[in-house]
Amino acid sequence: MAKPKVLVSRVIPQAALDLLSLHVVLEVNAEDKPLNKAELISRLQDKEGLLCLLTDLIDDEVLGSSPSLRVVSNVAVGFDNIEVKAAIRRKIAVTNTPGVLDDTTADFAWALLMATARRLVEADRYARSGRYQGWGIMLLLGHDIHGKTLGICGMGRIGKAVARRARGFGMKILYTDVQRMEEGLERELGLNFVDKDTLLRESDFVTLHVPLLPETTHYISCRELSLMKKTSHLINASRGPVVDEEALVEALKSKQIAGAALDVFEQEPKIHPGLIGLDNVVLAPHIASASVETRTRMATMAAENMLVALEGKIPPHIVNPEIYQ
Ligand code: DGY
Repeated sequence: MAKPKVLVSRVIPQAALDLLSLHVVLEVNAEDKPLNKAELISRLQDKEGLLCLLTDLIDDEVLGSSPSLRVVSNVAVGFDNIEVKAAIRRKIAVTNTPGVLDDTTADFAWALLMATARRLVEADRYARSGRYQGWGIMLLLGHDIHGKTLGICGMGRIGKAVARRARGFGMKILYTDVQRMEEGLERELGLNFVDKDTLLRESDFVTLHVPLLPETTHYISCRELSLMKKTSHLINASRGPVVDEEALVEALKSKQIAGAALDVFEQEPKIHPGLIGLDNVVLAPHIASASVETRTRMATMAAENMLVALEGKIPPHIVNPEIYQ
């Protein structure tokens, strides 16, 4: 039987390519930049599988462009780059990579939190600039982390991993979500369930771990920022549009909140120009899951999803199981 043909939209870790190439005929976009829509559609012709990244917009037009397409395997836990409803209609399987990046992403959310609280990036810039002329009692004062209140918005796998780390800092942990967790788990993790506004009012650090949905777009905007303490910090390692960047720029400029640290942006790879010039925001280029180990696991998991789905079986991390009914 002829091997199925698969397009890999962009360079991914070699281990995943090695695995795929044992079972399928591979075409890989060897450039480390996304294909534009026309290129993607043209290279997708006669392919049964597409292994793509969150930088590929897989809309109805792309999904419908190749009659042979049966599987879209995303190398990411988030899948807001894929029009899942259209994939359901077209009976194309969509898969993602949950679980393997939780701890790495939580580590990085903490790196962001600590960097903004203790002004680490500003300190680095200062030390390199030649302005450091000696110890100063008022030099680069930040805010303590230990003993403070951490507010976690979205208590999924990553939110829980963030909470576990907070316990080592002796923090009070508030959380909010659409659903409350069972009491036993709350107790084990030392969590207090509150509504969103209470969390914003009482937290010293607010960290966002919600998926991007119509309901979570601009989850943090002017009203929410106005509820936060003047000494508080906002951390976003979820999706850019969860925060209204325009409102955040104003809040940071007017010192309505003390600082922010962002791994994601509303219109990646563009960063709001108002953020660039501000000292009280730490910026990172969407790298929360970017460790060698985790990116390799994510790509391998996406390859495994692809291979199972191409065999006509339900892949382990299916996003739209209804297509199999
Ligand atoms: C994801 O997987 O959704 C992250 O944003 C990238 O690792």
